[in-house]
Amino acid sequence: MTGNRVVVYKGPGEVAVESIDYPKLELPADVVSGLGIKKKAPHAAILKLVTTNICGSDQHMVRGRTTAPVGQSLGHEITGEIVEVGEDVLFVKEGDICSVPFNIACGRCRMCNEGKTGICLNVNPARAGAAYGYVDMGGWVGGQAEYVMVPYADFNLLKFPDRDQALAKILDLTMLSDIFPTGYHGVFTAGVTSGSTVYVAGAGPVGLAAAYSAHLLGASTVIVGDMNADRLAQAASFGCETVDLSSGASLPDMIEQILGEPEVDAACDAVGFEARGHGHGAGEAPATVLNDIMTVSRAGAALGVPGLYVTGDPGGIDENAKIGQIGVRLGLGWAKSHSFTTGQCPVKKYNRQLMNMILSDKAHIAKAVGATTISLDEAPQGYQEFDQGAAKKYVIDPHGMVA
Ligand SMILES: NC(=O)c1ccc[n+]([C@@H]2O[C@H](COP(=O)([O-])OP(=O)(O)OC[C@H]3O[C@@H](n4cnc5c(N)ncnc54)[C@H](O)[C@@H]3O)[C@@H](O)[C@H]2O)c1
Ligand SMILES: [Zn+2]
Ligand SMILES: [Zn+2]
Repeated sequence: MTGNRVVVYKGPGEVAVESIDYPKLELPADVVSGLGIKKKAPHAAILKLVTTNICGSDQHMVRGRTTAPVGQSLGHEITGEIVEVGEDVLFVKEGDICSVPFNIACGRCRMCNEGKTGICLNVNPARAGAAYGYVDMGGWVGGQAEYVMVPYADFNLLKFPDRDQALAKILDLTMLSDIFPTGYHGVFTAGVTSGSTVYVAGAGPVGLAAAYSAHLLGASTVIVGDMNADRLAQAASFGCETVDLSSGASLPDMIEQILGEPEVDAACDAVGFEARGHGHGAGEAPATVLNDIMTVSRAGAALGVPGLYVTGDPGGIDENAKIGQIGVRLGLGWAKSHSFTTGQCPVKKYNRQLMNMILSDKAHIAKAVGATTISLDEAPQGYQEFDQGAAKKYVIDPHGMVA
């Protein structure tokens, strides 16, 4: 093997596919120097990508809304076939097709021991938690590529039990690396259970996955809010009620029209800091969704916040927003005794069970989120269409392995 091709951030609004070195069983320089650990990674595996998805989290970087440098490699939603393992890898082997949680975790630290793999302490010198191909996340090379290195492979990889079955259901299984567990986490941590009424803000892939998961958890009514008509239609296609936030009507009123009361049992923010305000053509108002979910959730509710909030945003609407300080009306949530779950979804907490739901034909997540396959060379176009709000989840197929 000589080379590898990977999607790279080239500046606001631009990505390209570039050639880089074939991956080695070695940790990134930042991790080695910052944490003082060995460079050699005999615990790692090299994967040939089967599928790798474009995510709304990538878009924050590509829109120039993070401190990602030009040249940042992209891709954290990885499903692949093992082509090489280090000598300390014991339980997964060449030929296995595996889902890779987007969180990189050592499997050995206090947080990993507690199952909190989104805030592993040994994979990123800058803060707790790491991911492939992401700014401030440890310098791990991205997986929108032909090949990628996965450290601590026995811990991180979820092996699919049967190769042919995996390839047959690959468009569903590819969602296990991030959005299916993330959406599930968003509504699970919001306490959704049999009969719950639920509001999900955002009908992008994460919001759709959250709404789909709320149905799996037995919700009675799932209401999805967005201002993108195509994405709302996608939510309606699997039984959700929808509210159009560009209409100018008040959100509690629209919820009351559906439920007979203006509040829900549980709510989920699947939008994050690039939220727009309500009403036709409204501009960005980053605290909108956090304030919405506090407004429309009953007293005592739990709120799931997978939507991403940053500590630095060069494109923020004002000086406060540029450091991630936004106008959240916390008193509202405090008065209702709300609790919040934020942060990276700890994918490993959910991916095995959600895989089983896919394999037993109980979950059809690819259809719910509009999975659409493209080649690696089509990635720049996929990024553009996704940025324009296509009701699709783009799945890159670098080796033509998706039937
Ligand atoms: N916590 C995690 O582990 C995790 C994992 C994956 C993604 N994310 C984050 O989840 C968020 C959603 O991801 P995505 O891929 O679906 O992104 P996306 O950008 O495709 O979707 C966001 C949607 O929100 C809508 N929106 C904007 N303002 C709104 C408002 N006020 N109310 C309702 N909807 C509004 C947009 O029209 C868009 O359809 C992003 O912030 C992403 O970074 C977090
Ligand atoms: Zn993602
Ligand atoms: Zn760890």
